[in-house]
Amino acid sequence: MCGIVAYVGEREALPILLAGLQRLEYRGYDSAGIALVPESTGGRAAPAEGEHRLLVRKRAGRLRGLRELVEQTVTQTPGVRYGTGIGHTRWATHGPPTDANAHPHTDCTGQIAVVHNGILENAVRLREELAARGHRFLSETDTEVVAHLLEEELAASGGQVTKKAWLAMLQKLEGSFAMAAVDARHPGRIWLARYSSPLIVAPGADGWLAASDIPALLPYTRKVFICGDREAVCLQRREANFFTFRGEPIQKVVHQIGWRAEQAEKRGYTDFMIKEIHEEPAIVERLSERYAPAGQVELPLMWPPSWWEQRRQGWLIASGTAAHAGWVAKRWLERIAGLPLEADVASEFRYRDPLFRPEDWALVISQSGETADTLAGLRYCRQHGVPTLALVNVVGSSIARETDQVVYTDAGPEIAVASTKAYTAQLVVLYLLASYVAKVRGRGQVSTEGLAALPRLPEQLADVLAREQELERVAQQLAEVEHVFYIGRGVDQALAAEGALKLKEISYIHAEAYAAGELKHGPLALIGRGTPVIAVLTEPNLVVKTLGNVQEVKARGAWVAAIGMEEYQSQARAAGVDTWFGLPELPRDLRPMLAATPLQLLAYHVARLRGSDVDRPRNLAKSVTVE
Ligand code: M6R
Repeated sequence: MCGIVAYVGEREALPILLAGLQRLEYRGYDSAGIALVPESTGGRAAPAEGEHRLLVRKRAGRLRGLRELVEQTVTQTPGVRYGTGIGHTRWATHGPPTDANAHPHTDCTGQIAVVHNGILENAVRLREELAARGHRFLSETDTEVVAHLLEEELAASGGQVTKKAWLAMLQKLEGSFAMAAVDARHPGRIWLARYSSPLIVAPGADGWLAASDIPALLPYTRKVFICGDREAVCLQRREANFFTFRGEPIQKVVHQIGWRAEQAEKRGYTDFMIKEIHEEPAIVERLSERYAPAGQVELPLMWPPSWWEQRRQGWLIASGTAAHAGWVAKRWLERIAGLPLEADVASEFRYRDPLFRPEDWALVISQSGETADTLAGLRYCRQHGVPTLALVNVVGSSIARETDQVVYTDAGPEIAVASTKAYTAQLVVLYLLASYVAKVRGRGQVSTEGLAALPRLPEQLADVLAREQELERVAQQLAEVEHVFYIGRGVDQALAAEGALKLKEISYIHAEAYAAGELKHGPLALIGRGTPVIAVLTEPNLVVKTLGNVQEVKARGAWVAAIGMEEYQSQARAAGVDTWFGLPELPRDLRPMLAATPLQLLAYHVARLRGSDVDRPRNLAKSVTVE
């Protein structure tokens, strides 16, 4: 999805904008651009009226292209500095990824430039009206209307963008947006606004910064102000004024971000994805110390034990990998805590007219806290009076702010598009939640063994990571194939779904996950000589059943690799498994946290062997803020 960065201050804006855009690359983008406002530094007269010109540079493709363009064309003019600027990475929605469609977009005079994340739903009508009034459009984007709307407001605001003009323009927009605008006639000022798309403002680097995502700001500050919906800001070198869309001033609360700048850097690893997988042992250790010190669950939950006793059913609201974590949680909550969880994906949930009952609750899971479908599902629950508990990684994100209560998964910034460490962190917190709910519902004995073993998990994860080469060898068998099937039962089915998602999104191999018992109801027709099948074997009461299905695919010539508890190896070999990756002994409930890592490593190494851009797979974005 798109990214925004903005700076106004005493330093040159360009290097700050380019560094910020680089830190936003992970969001996924297909073009990038910047707009800088010239200002006199005294050695030369300020630009005369009519001479004001923004310096706008934009280019389709990677940020490298924009950098080259900027190096070729931005020359320092003596006496002129560029201390105010906005930058953008675009993920195409309206119009293809071309230079013309890249942001910033300008008005007819070229004196106003705008960058925007989100979708303007009334852009087509606005564009027709503006064109009828003589405005000339240079792009196919929805965003360009903003520059022209602002241009029209100038007559009423003394010829430059003012608070009045900014607010009057905002009233005309429908849809979602985080946006930033600069005016060539007014250096030292940036106008910002947010509705339903993240926007963060922070002091730092001898001025003020704004960005759509925290990682862009981390080198300068860890104190941030998170803009709420229908909030606007005017940034100047030494101050930031926040106000509502009705113009009332707002006192903002500062948020302290726990992340460090180096957490958003590769630190010697080839890719962010592999770095993030290797962070998993430390994350599990941190989470168990924080939320289960001395083997007792201490989650920051505001609902009292009696509230949990009365619950009859939960509703999962999550997408992609977060939904897969929820599918594991469904098994835990139902088996350990005796509390049913209806587990759909958020994009289906929001349109299915769920039949809520008074004692229902909703479990929302999201790494970014910004996923549009998940956020919509959360809002739907709140509108219908269903209490919401959200597990979120990004502090202050929309879901974290809008939910009734939030538990942070504390995995640090996840930069690779493929979610890995965030998933493992979600599993840990979900397991602790299920254990807590079990305890307050009088079923605590079910989870004692797992809680006692949790401190062992980081070391076991580290052992799995130390055997990465074994998985690299398995990956070699898969590098040239076109289809892979993942199978499992119970929790292993949910793990298979996640393993298949990892493989398909970064290696572009068609990967399908099936409940192993479903194979003979159709998918078995696809199995032939050499078809690769990955079996997940952690469920003690289901391993024999899944191995029965392994024998069925072997009988049709499949090549089977299995990831499972070491104690099942001999049974698996007897069933015909060709390649085995064994996991050390661990109580049943903790096994998903251990089995996920080899599935992630396998996908990673297949993708590397196929030469994929592992961190930035094609067509995908890190945080899916549009429906
Ligand atoms: O930020 P979220 O956890 O809400 O994101 C949900 C999905 O978009 C995300 O997990 C996606 O499926 C990842 N690319 C999976 O690796």
